[in-house]
Amino acid sequence: MHYRKWGRDLPWRRTADPYRIIVAEMMLQQTQVDRVVPKYNAFLERFPEADALALSPLKNVLAAWQGLGYNRRAIALQKTAQRIVDDFGGTVPADVDTLTTFPGIGRATASAVCAYAFDMPVVYVETNIRRVFIHVFFPGREGVPDAEILPLVERTLYQESPREWYNALMDYGSVLKQRTENPNRRSAAYAVQSRFAGSDRQIRGAILRS
Ligand code: ADE
Repeated sequence: MHYRKWGRDLPWRRTADPYRIIVAEMMLQQTQVDRVVPKYNAFLERFPEADALALSPLKNVLAAWQGLGYNRRAIALQKTAQRIVDDFGGTVPADVDTLTTFPGIGRATASAVCAYAFDMPVVYVETNIRRVFIHVFFPGREGVPDAEILPLVERTLYQESPREWYNALMDYGSVLKQRTENPNRRSAAYAVQSRFAGSDRQIRGAILRS
C-alpha cells in the first residue's frame, strides 16, 4: 500500500488513544494540518489525559488553544472531556451515536474517532474524503450530495485496516487540494507532496477493484 511508504507522519497517527484522537479531530475541524501540529503537541503536554483537561480552569484551556481560533471549540472540547470523565469513568465510548451526543462532536468527528482510535469500519464523509471520491467517481461535478458518496465509501472501505485506509484518503485529499490551489507551482512543499502522485493510480485502482 502506497500509504505505508509515503503517508504523512502526523503526531495523531502515532497514537490510538481516543482522547488524543478527539483533541486532534476537534482541532482539525476548522484549522489546517500545518497549523494544528505544533498546537496539538503543546496542548497534550499541558493536558495529557481527559482528567487534566476536565479539571483545568477554562482560562488555561483557552490559553493552550490560542492560535487555533474559534474558542467555542475549546469550550466544547473541555465539556467533552468532562463528559468522558463524569459519565464514562474516563473511558471514551467506541460508538458513533454515543460520541455524537458529546459537545462539539458531529457525525464526521465521531466517525473519525472510531476509525482512528478503534480501527472500526465506519462509513463517513468529510472534506478530504469528499474531494477524493468526487475526483474519482464524479470528475468535474460540483455539489455532489453525500447521499451519493456514502455508498461508494462503504463499498470501497479497506476492511482489513480502516485506520490506514482513512489516513490514506486524508493524504490523497490533501494532495488533490494542493493541486487545485497551485496547478503550476513547483514549490518545495509541492515537490514533497507530489511524491503522492503515484497514489492516484493506486488508490483509484484499489477503489475500483473493490
Ligand atoms: N482532517 C480531519 N481529520 C484529519 C486527519 N485525521 N488527518 C488529516 N487531516 C484531517
